[in-house]
Amino acid sequence: MKILMVCLGNICRSPLAEGIMKQKIEERGLDWAVESAGTGNWHLGEQPDPRSISIASQYGLDITDQRARQLQAADLDDYDLILAMDHSNYEDIRRKVFDESHEGKVKMILDYVHPGEERSVPDPYWDDDGFEQVYRMLEEACERVLDTHQ
Ligand code: 4NP
Repeated sequence: MKILMVCLGNICRSPLAEGIMKQKIEERGLDWAVESAGTGNWHLGEQPDPRSISIASQYGLDITDQRARQLQAADLDDYDLILAMDHSNYEDIRRKVFDESHEGKVKMILDYVHPGEERSVPDPYWDDDGFEQVYRMLEEACERVLDTHQ
């Protein structure tokens, strides 16, 4: 299983989702791969946001090796599951890089926790206090993704 976590900038939410999922994959001894990308291109090559690095380190995760990259059309072929953090990411993926051969691969990550409710992981970029909540949401969601597909 190859999973791609997708948000807007690839510096706040999806790097956390990648880091959390990597740790869980290792804990479960699975042969899965996970990476992340952004729909936007403002932060290419940058490390995750310092606030994401900080909350991750509080939970024992080191995400400092990650570098932001932009979602490519080929990603839709290369990954088995593309997990969008919010509605606008989901719509961007479908509008920009998606064709019908990818149907079923693109999902909102919180659908694994709240099926059918179409909930979004809030963008914490403009809210210093949002990172803890985002971390907890993603932690639960990653656990459910693993339970569903393992
Ligand atoms: P992310 O957060 O999509 O979770 O990485 C954002 C990062 C950067 C921007 C917006 C959201 N930005 O406008 O640069």
